[in-house]
Amino acid sequence: MEKSGISRRSFTKASAVASFGILTAATGKAANGKGTIKIGLIGAGGRGTGAVMDCLEGNKDLDLKLVAAADIFEDKLKDPQSGFAKITKHPKVDVKPDMMFSGVDAYKKLLATDVDMIIHATPPYARPDHITAAVDAGKQIFTEKPAGVDPVGVRKFMAAAKKAEEKKLSFVCGTQRRHQQEYVETVKKLQDGAIGDIVAARAYWCGSLPFSHERKEGWSDLEYRLRNWYNQCWTCGDNIVEQHIHNMDVINWVMGGPPVSVFASGGRAWKPTEERYGDIYDNFSCDYEYKNGVFVTSMSRHFNGAAEGVFEWVKGTKGVSDCKDLGEKGTNPYQQEHIDLLASIMGTGPYLNEGVRCAESTMTVIMGRMSAYTGKKYTWEEALNEDLDIVPKDLDFSKSYPVGPVPVPGKKKA
Ligand SMILES: NC(=O)c1ccc[n+]([C@@H]2O[C@H](COP(=O)([O-])OP(=O)(O)OC[C@H]3O[C@@H](n4cnc5c(N)ncnc54)[C@H](O)[C@@H]3O)[C@@H](O)[C@H]2O)c1
Repeated sequence: MEKSGISRRSFTKASAVASFGILTAATGKAANGKGTIKIGLIGAGGRGTGAVMDCLEGNKDLDLKLVAAADIFEDKLKDPQSGFAKITKHPKVDVKPDMMFSGVDAYKKLLATDVDMIIHATPPYARPDHITAAVDAGKQIFTEKPAGVDPVGVRKFMAAAKKAEEKKLSFVCGTQRRHQQEYVETVKKLQDGAIGDIVAARAYWCGSLPFSHERKEGWSDLEYRLRNWYNQCWTCGDNIVEQHIHNMDVINWVMGGPPVSVFASGGRAWKPTEERYGDIYDNFSCDYEYKNGVFVTSMSRHFNGAAEGVFEWVKGTKGVSDCKDLGEKGTNPYQQEHIDLLASIMGTGPYLNEGVRCAESTMTVIMGRMSAYTGKKYTWEEALNEDLDIVPKDLDFSKSYPVGPVPVPGKKKA
């Protein structure tokens, strides 16, 4: 069945080359004479540079070029050892010095250029503001997950996604299982009743500790928080939001929408109390309820040396499934998401706007975190409408950004 992935790719490429005029019409922009689709990268770290390569390599026959890049830290763009420096060797990467932007407003400067499309891969705290600005600037969008770190940010991201729809801007999010053939085929069969009615499910992200850094001499408070972003709730949303979103996105897909409520527990069993480990938990166990009274057990934890497992599993009245066992392997999903995005932009495939459902999957894991932090049960409506906004508004390298304390259920309010 790899065949079907390949034939779909070939179709996309052949028809896209023939129909670049459609992009010009869709974006309302004059092409640059040769019809190049100009891409700008915001957040030039591991995933951002990887996503650029996935986009260029997945769409080899298209006339694409990375022409601009923005990162809050200049060294991420200029250090010869950086991931960005490595991708500049690619023939379709041509970022001139005056198209490299750094600092807190780097994203605004990039959005003011004539790039047609952005690849957004900062940590999630910046996503709602940056994506809103990108839609306002009329850019086609690939954005990494999660959509944000709190309900206020998620609502803002949802509003931007709806505005993108009105502007007919394509909008693909980095929940790549939605572009992985095994999942796509299996979920379709599950929705068509392959294992009967779904009666229960499980979703686990049980892995080891992600990166953390000691504070280096000369780093301001903000620089430390951002370079150590996987360890503060306001920068990453906690591990349940950062990583478990992938699993809960699959469950929401199978169930046909987000949960109606959650009751959760969590804490810090493995991480010592050190600044490098910030203020986040290392384990969450959530009991989600979906419509029709279906319960989903979810676990998200980062422990070194303990059992690991990352999967989704559903039980129906006639059988069970791991959500990918009824499909065939296809193209690398990290490339396929860019193949599908470019087909949407060029009008050679279906129009894609995944923003609202990515926001819903983000909110699903944020509500699990809120329940664990507070010890309260949350309904979907209560959590989504909570006035919780944890991202500082004034990013300033001369100010202090203290973290903590680690949330205590029964004491923390939201
Ligand atoms: N879909 C997937 O499987 C997958 C895999 C890895 C990472 N990701 C996502 O990609 C995102 C980035 O992760 P990463 O591993 O590349 O992290 P990273 O630290 O390697 O890169 C993040 C980059 O963003 C920059 N940045 C931070 N704040 C910024 C701002 N305000 N403006 C501009 N640049 C800013 C940082 O300096 C850094 O270079 C995360 O949201 C993560 O969840 C997704």
